[in-house]
Amino acid sequence: MRAKIIGTGSCLPQKAVTNDDLSTLMETSDEWIKSRTGISARHLVSSETETTLSMAVNAGKSALADAGLLPEDIELIIVATVSSDFITPSTACMVQKELGAVHAAAFDMNAACSGFLFALNTADAYFQAGIYQNALIIGVETLSKIVDWKDRSTCVLFGDGAGAAVLRADSEGIIASLQGSNGAGGHVLMCKNRSSNNPFVATDTRLDYLYMDGQEVFKFAVKKETECIQELLAQTGLAPSDITWYLLHQANQRIINSIARKLKLPLDKFPSNVDHCGNTSAASIPILLDEVHRANTLSEGDLILLSGFGAGLTWGAALLRW
Ligand code: UT7
Repeated sequence: MRAKIIGTGSCLPQKAVTNDDLSTLMETSDEWIKSRTGISARHLVSSETETTLSMAVNAGKSALADAGLLPEDIELIIVATVSSDFITPSTACMVQKELGAVHAAAFDMNAACSGFLFALNTADAYFQAGIYQNALIIGVETLSKIVDWKDRSTCVLFGDGAGAAVLRADSEGIIASLQGSNGAGGHVLMCKNRSSNNPFVATDTRLDYLYMDGQEVFKFAVKKETECIQELLAQTGLAPSDITWYLLHQANQRIINSIARKLKLPLDKFPSNVDHCGNTSAASIPILLDEVHRANTLSEGDLILLSGFGAGLTWGAALLRW
């Protein structure tokens, strides 16, 4: 049995912040951001009631309603995030409580922007082992609290939000998947955001914010994500043109364009929402999936390839039948 997506949901914070809004806070411009990234606006939390947890819960509720399942039906909850509200309990356990998913085992996972794919692949592995029959997986980020608002080369890229999918063990669903990591490259995108309270350690208690070497990440993204897609296609014997939709991590429209060019495919196979969401890290793929699902873009039987890359470094892909 493999994982089949039977419902999706998403939640974006109320406040949309345009590039022009940002140019009132820092030296930047709509022209620079749009031409370098394709981003026009991003949603950012703007009140204490909008949190990683609240967005995860809203996205989860909406995915459950779409799937026609009740919270108490759910056996497994995995939340992919690098920006949880608490170190412990996990966001997944807090989501479980808020939803009343009393029968679920719940845990968080950190694979940065590849997190949703790692969560999907993990749930799929549980299904293949016969351990669970369904799962709620959520990608959620409140990156606005960890980006460096004094670093215009990174803060303009990211947005907040959550996306969710309900999975069922089924004879049809995920056809093939892969994931990988290269910890040795981790220094190009990182956030050392922990202080120590240990009295025996002379600690630098400074909290750091997100740091990124943009050009290195750009090169890694185009190379690794293309290779990852090609490897997955080779596993299945499919040609790039056999895939109905490519739903890629929404980091930068130029990265998506480069991958489409390398695969020699038209851009209309690559739906995108980076223009109004920015890069929402682990939430980007499930938010996009929910958008295209609710816009009736997907038809039963479509072949969908999800793929992403992120800090760690990490990357992953999954091919599934809708
Ligand atoms: O999921 C995580 C994935 N992260 C990514 O996918 C990021 C991948 N990298 C990128 O998308 C691009 O590298 C960026 C969009 C981050 C940067 O684009 P770039 O074309 O590589 O620009 P750059 O870093 O080479 O900067 C060019 C210039 C610099 O000025 P000088 O030194 O040439 O005078 C920057 O200071 O642009 C300047 N700059 C800005 N100007 C206006 C950097 N950020 C901004 C800004 N507004 N926001």
